[in-house]
Amino acid sequence: MRYCLYSYGGNTRQIAKLVQQETGGDLCEIEIATPYTGSYNDVVEQGQREVNSGFTPKLKPVSADLKNYDTVILGTPVWWYTYAPAMRTLLQSSDFSGKVIYPFATNGGWLGHTFADIAEACPTATVKAGLNIRFNEDRLVTPEAEILRWIKGISEK
Ligand SMILES: Cc1cc2nc3c(=O)[nH]c(=O)nc-3n(C[C@H](O)[C@H](O)[C@H](O)COP(=O)(O)O)c2cc1C
Repeated sequence: MRYCLYSYGGNTRQIAKLVQQETGGDLCEIEIATPYTGSYNDVVEQGQREVNSGFTPKLKPVSADLKNYDTVILGTPVWWYTYAPAMRTLLQSSDFSGKVIYPFATNGGWLGHTFADIAEACPTATVKAGLNIRFNEDRLVTPEAEILRWIKGISEK
């Protein structure tokens, strides 16, 4: 089982680590080649431009090969009602055919169309019901029991 995640501020990483702790598997964090700079609000604005234009940032190379995994747990923050641009790059450049994807998305309360967009981006994969995880800044709002319940529903192909 493989976990792929992108995290700008750390919330998504925190959840990915919890999922990994509960189920085992390999964690793979994707990072953009040119990190965001400026204030949080600058990043929110840049993020809006990137989401609106469908920008796919260059990622740092990762050593893991997705080919070796049938089940992928995919974690992303919600950026402007969808997955983050780094996740767009990953989804567009990877072959998820025949794989089972369990997505989760951390956000401040506005999930938008994130999970529908992931399913649309991976038409040859089986995309399972996603987990919506709410944070208030860096404080987890969604009860941990709810997250653990979702994790229990993950079955390895
Ligand atoms: C560029 C940007 C856009 C965001 N857009 C949304 C949004 O549309 N809906 C929402 O609920 N939260 C939004 N947020 C808040 C993040 O989704 C939330 O803080 C998330 O947990 C951050 O995860 P991370 O710490 O792993 O980066 C946005 C944050 C940023 C930086």
